[in-house]
Amino acid sequence: MLIVNKIIIAIDGYSACGKSTTAKNVAKALHYVHVDTGAMYRGVALYLLRKGIPVDRETPELFAALDEIHLEFDLNPDGASSDLILNGENVEQEIRTLTVSNVVSEVAAMKPVREKLVLLQHQIGKKKGIVMDGRDIGTVVFPHADLKIFMSATLEKRVERRQLQLSRSGISQSDKEIRDNIRHRDHIDTTRQESPLRRAADALELDTTDKTIDQQVQFVVEHAMRIINENVVTNA
Ligand code: DC
Repeated sequence: MLIVNKIIIAIDGYSACGKSTTAKNVAKALHYVHVDTGAMYRGVALYLLRKGIPVDRETPELFAALDEIHLEFDLNPDGASSDLILNGENVEQEIRTLTVSNVVSEVAAMKPVREKLVLLQHQIGKKKGIVMDGRDIGTVVFPHADLKIFMSATLEKRVERRQLQLSRSGISQSDKEIRDNIRHRDHIDTTRQESPLRRAADALELDTTDKTIDQQVQFVVEHAMRIINENVVTNA
């Protein structure tokens, strides 16, 4: 009998490089589950904004809020992508707005926020058979992930992609606003004290500037299949 071991795939990289789209499609191809950890930070940011709690410092209100926040994913019928559920409410659309994007990096830089979400990510990852994307998945959350990918693309390409994504959701934003937001987030994500964005030494680089989504997905799936096949155990 062949025993096919499921693996953990960690995809990290800058904002708007196509991480989530790639991760979602890789999960679909392998019949794995995609976990978008950025959505979790966005969910916390949305909760703080709604409650009028400061998003950039550790206050008693922040700690109380973290106890109140319950996050889960609702799997969509395609079996791979999922919507973020915040305390029972589907907030998938609202967490993508620029209002949330503008503060999420500050929220994600706070240690108690990261501690809560990393714990949750560990629980989700116990099952294996997952593709998790974020900023610290290969370095902090799953340093022993079976496959690590680090994605990048030029700033202009990332602005173009975010613009397309927003306009598809009916959100209008100037290129300048988007560019400023991406720059701002790159700066905070790479310079913060807690788990800054960096490439794990054993991560494979994937520059998506001139690649289509299909090519990106193929790159990850090919490497995943190689690792899965190396791990197939024959149990006679
Ligand atoms: O991937 P995204 O743009 O939805 O992520 C939103 C923010 O959350 C981003 O500015 C960085 C932060 N983040 C993080 O710090 N660690 C993760 N694992 C995922 C996202």
